[in-house]
Amino acid sequence: MQNTEKTEKKRIVMSGMRPTGPLHLGHWEGALRNWLKLQQECECYFSIADWHALTTEYADPSAIRDHARAVLLDWLSVGIDPDRSVVFRQSAIKEIPELFLLFAMIAPLGRLERVPTFKEQKAQLADRDLNTFGFLGYPLLQTIDIIVVGGNTVPVGEDQVYHIELAREMVRRFNQFYGEVFEEPMELLTPQSRLPGLDGRKMSKSYGNVINLSDDAETVKSKIMPMKTDVRRQRRSDPGVPEDCPVFAFHKSFSSVEQIAEVEAGCRSAAIGCIDCKKILIANLNRFLEPVRERRARFENSDIEDLLAPGNARARERAGRTLEVVRAQVKI
Ligand code: TRP
Ligand code: SF4
Repeated sequence: MQNTEKTEKKRIVMSGMRPTGPLHLGHWEGALRNWLKLQQECECYFSIADWHALTTEYADPSAIRDHARAVLLDWLSVGIDPDRSVVFRQSAIKEIPELFLLFAMIAPLGRLERVPTFKEQKAQLADRDLNTFGFLGYPLLQTIDIIVVGGNTVPVGEDQVYHIELAREMVRRFNQFYGEVFEEPMELLTPQSRLPGLDGRKMSKSYGNVINLSDDAETVKSKIMPMKTDVRRQRRSDPGVPEDCPVFAFHKSFSSVEQIAEVEAGCRSAAIGCIDCKKILIANLNRFLEPVRERRARFENSDIEDLLAPGNARARERAGRTLEVVRAQVKI
């Protein structure tokens, strides 16, 4: 085959999280695990999206700073490496609002109103007034996050696919008006996490059914021990169906293949009791979390601004180059 100038485009990974509180095992399974892998292979940008948090928290933003710190510590604790990846705070990059403003000029209102998460979130957070320009602009702001640092690959869950689709449309529109400046970003779908919360529903802070990445060993134990198990196992001698038990779902994510097989067979034959089953899980969860705790201890006393400064500077530098091109093309 001929080797023409059609060279492989380099993957530039960009993703972010809104700082809404400490991260839990759901974030690990649904995102961070994947980020760690990508960090080994690609240039990565990871943003603490505090302006995105403000779109819903504007009436009381007082917790956002603390949450940003918590998110950063959680990222570093699981092994996001600020020497390898560009880890930064969205609000440190003033090129973002500049590019957002330029895109606001060309973003069709009707298109933004049709983004499904717009109506869904509004209904879900009915206690707040989200009839705001800022909230409508949420997915446009996300577009800017991605393209301002040249991101072309966006690891996200299923729920964010519409936003990436919008990003592609906005990029296309911009390029039509002002010339081929931006690459259309693609989502990199993170496989749906199979890990439920402690009560079997989706793991979510609002359900109070989470294990945080920052939970200590005692806390993990005190959360697992009272978990409801399969209702068939009234007595120790009653066999159960592991598929109907959230403890087993946790085993599937955090236990070895042999242990999973052992627990599964033991549950069905009543060879193992729920307490023993939970003890195995607790040990495995704590074995997983121990290195996370060790890394956290190394960063915990550092000033968050010091930790973020190099990443902020790198993101700013990259965004600055983007804006130079953009200003020239838009002729402003
Ligand atoms: N909207 C994303 C979420 O709620 C968070 C986010 C902000 C993001 N900026 C981003 C994700 C840029 C990917 C790329 O999960
Ligand atoms: Fe759940 Fe384990 Fe009890 Fe089976 S033995 S019901 S998997 S806790």
